[in-house]
Amino acid sequence: MNNERTHDCGTLSDKNIGETVTLCGWVHTRRDHGGLIFVDLWDKYGMTQVVLNPQIDQLAHEHAQSIRGNYVIGVTGKVSARPDDMVNSKLKTGMIEVYVDALSILNPSETPPISPWEPQDTSEALRLKYRFLDLRGPELQRNLKMRYDTTRVARNELHRHGFMEIETPMLTKSTPEGARDYLVPSRLNPQKFYALPQSPQLFKQILMVAGMDRYYQIVKCFRDEDLRQDRQPEFTQIDIEMSFGNEKLLFQITEEMMAAIYKEVLDVKIETPFPILKYQDAIDRFGSDKPDMRFGMEIVDLGEIVRGTSFKVFARVLESGGQVRALNVKNSAESLSRKALDDLTEIAKTYGAKGMAWIKVQENELQSPIIKFFEQEMLDTMLKALGSEPGDTVVFIADKPKIVADALAHLRLALGKQLNLIDKSKNSFIWVTQFPLVEYDDTEKRYTAMHHPFTAPREEDMEKFESDPGSIKARAYDLVLNGNEIGGGSIRIHQKEVQEKMFKLLGIGQEEAQAKFGFLLDALQYGAPPHCGIAMGLDRIIMLLSGAASIRDVIAFPKTQKATCLMTQAPSEVDPKQLRELKLKADLS
Ligand code: AMO
Ligand code: AMP
Repeated sequence: MNNERTHDCGTLSDKNIGETVTLCGWVHTRRDHGGLIFVDLWDKYGMTQVVLNPQIDQLAHEHAQSIRGNYVIGVTGKVSARPDDMVNSKLKTGMIEVYVDALSILNPSETPPISPWEPQDTSEALRLKYRFLDLRGPELQRNLKMRYDTTRVARNELHRHGFMEIETPMLTKSTPEGARDYLVPSRLNPQKFYALPQSPQLFKQILMVAGMDRYYQIVKCFRDEDLRQDRQPEFTQIDIEMSFGNEKLLFQITEEMMAAIYKEVLDVKIETPFPILKYQDAIDRFGSDKPDMRFGMEIVDLGEIVRGTSFKVFARVLESGGQVRALNVKNSAESLSRKALDDLTEIAKTYGAKGMAWIKVQENELQSPIIKFFEQEMLDTMLKALGSEPGDTVVFIADKPKIVADALAHLRLALGKQLNLIDKSKNSFIWVTQFPLVEYDDTEKRYTAMHHPFTAPREEDMEKFESDPGSIKARAYDLVLNGNEIGGGSIRIHQKEVQEKMFKLLGIGQEEAQAKFGFLLDALQYGAPPHCGIAMGLDRIIMLLSGAASIRDVIAFPKTQKATCLMTQAPSEVDPKQLRELKLKADLS
């Protein structure tokens, strides 16, 4: 059997002409030209054309009649120059072909239900079911290679800075990262459950108490939450923690790592240091804590200008403490049809807005359903503040601050896409800092941590725990790339009293704190160093590096929106015997 290859399918070139070689791989295509049979032989390294000529080897040629796409074969033959008119400049090996004098069929293949070479012709469900075929396609091959290159560079960079990879348990206790836990029943401890980690947060902090100084781990995290294009129930973090660090040092290490990844994977130079934007400025200017800053179109607050207007919608909102804010959309009055404005209004409504007012600024007039409610002077001041010129469109949202921010943020993104304002060649990294420590949950009537409960408040805000907790700023930071949150972390609380204060603020009583996080509170009593860290979302980074439309395209075996694996059919029912062993019943609905 020809299964000892001398070369892979991507390396032969005109330098090898005259050599006898053995190649192994999959039949990509077979073309029977009467006398000659041409086979494109594929493996992960590339494609080589092999030729079966009955005059060179009758038997091999006959053998080749039976081979079909996806057969695994081995061939031995001579590397020859292709005739000039047959040279394929698109193929790395396009200068040569191999004239076969021995062919072995190493394994035949059924006709495959999908072609990984034409993924667009196949439903994603079928592609996920036959993932082993799908993964042969060039795009997924490239994405997984990028993923490997990224983790390789990340490991090198972190090693260079003295970080050591340490594994932490998968069967563990719940860590509050804001999602639901995946639970694993314990056979040896009936009615007790492990939680799969939402992140290694507490373990990495404990490792700092243990004197490990600089930890990292490329690690799976599990969160049972509603899934989207950029969310998977199990995903991977580049998880980092360091002792005696601060924002400046941690930003620098992260920036160097990201720059090294972009250099290695895309050969792109990333400008460092990354700009820093305060959370409140991000919300005020872009409506979002993960703004896409590859284009402008910033939000303008019109509250002061339109106060006293007779337009009831705006007046009522302002009276009840709300906001009136707007976007000036440059050069759009012509392209934004009534239908387009209606569609934008629908977008605004999905984020809670009750409507979207607009003004089209024309050369000599304003076109709008709302100008009749405004005096000329107020209109002039408003348009001046917006920087509006003829040809622009202004869109307004009036509501509670959160709705105004959400609606305008999404309108801005939709308009940026529609009007092609986003420069795709840019990589806009920004740090977002100074998040509020806590937010008030209206339904639960209590404060919840904006990041997680182990995030340190700013020193100068310590006295606000009693007086005004909502205004405490956290020493937390997110890394945002082109409007995507690709990482998040914080300076941690390292003093037991502060941690207890935080739990109290979050309504976690002493007993509950002991039961859930007793080990952390214990550890904080025995010389916990000041420490800080970050976790980068590896899948999202690869999605952005590769330009993939979905996070599923950068994961070898991803889950669907319903958190199922179509290839293995997980989750699935289990044998009643297994449930009995676990002392569980399956019918509790
Ligand atoms: P956080 O919850 O912000 O922080 O997560 C860090 C990063 O992980 C990515 N991410 C996800 N990616 C894909 N699918 C998901 N379901 C998903 N959830 C999060 C994001 C995010 O920025 N322990 C803290 C980090 C720390 O404080 O050091 C944590 O997990 O890119
Ligand atoms: P109405 O008086 O409800 O007919 O609204 C007049 C215009 O104001 C319409 O174009 C509405 O879309 C718009 N509008 C209504 N509610 C809001 C709101 N909360 N914010 C901004 N515009 C609104």
